[in-house]
Amino acid sequence: MSEFKKATKVSAVPAGKMVTVDMGGEKVLIANDGGTYYGIGAVCTHEEWDLSEGALGGTKVTCAGHGAVWDLATGKAEFDEDLPDEPLYDVKVEGEDLYVRRRGR
Ligand code: FES
Repeated sequence: MSEFKKATKVSAVPAGKMVTVDMGGEKVLIANDGGTYYGIGAVCTHEEWDLSEGALGGTKVTCAGHGAVWDLATGKAEFDEDLPDEPLYDVKVEGEDLYVRRRGR
């Protein structure tokens, strides 16, 4: 997914909220921190809980599974054990829609 693809409506991700969108089998978490959008992989690399079920605080998401704290800017987790990074996505607004593109590909 190296090109931007339509993910969801802007209205689906108000400030302070996050959603998981399925981009053809690739699950992407889109979060809105005060009008700035972030995109990371939505499936926790610990035991595959959906990160949108967790808690969003600023640019951090706490996984509802076992409490790993994910940084939306870096895709890295703070946890008792080392976890593989989440992939990062660029998010852009176009009209009423949000588009995502996987970074670094
Ligand atoms: S599944 Fe996310 S911390 Fe365990």
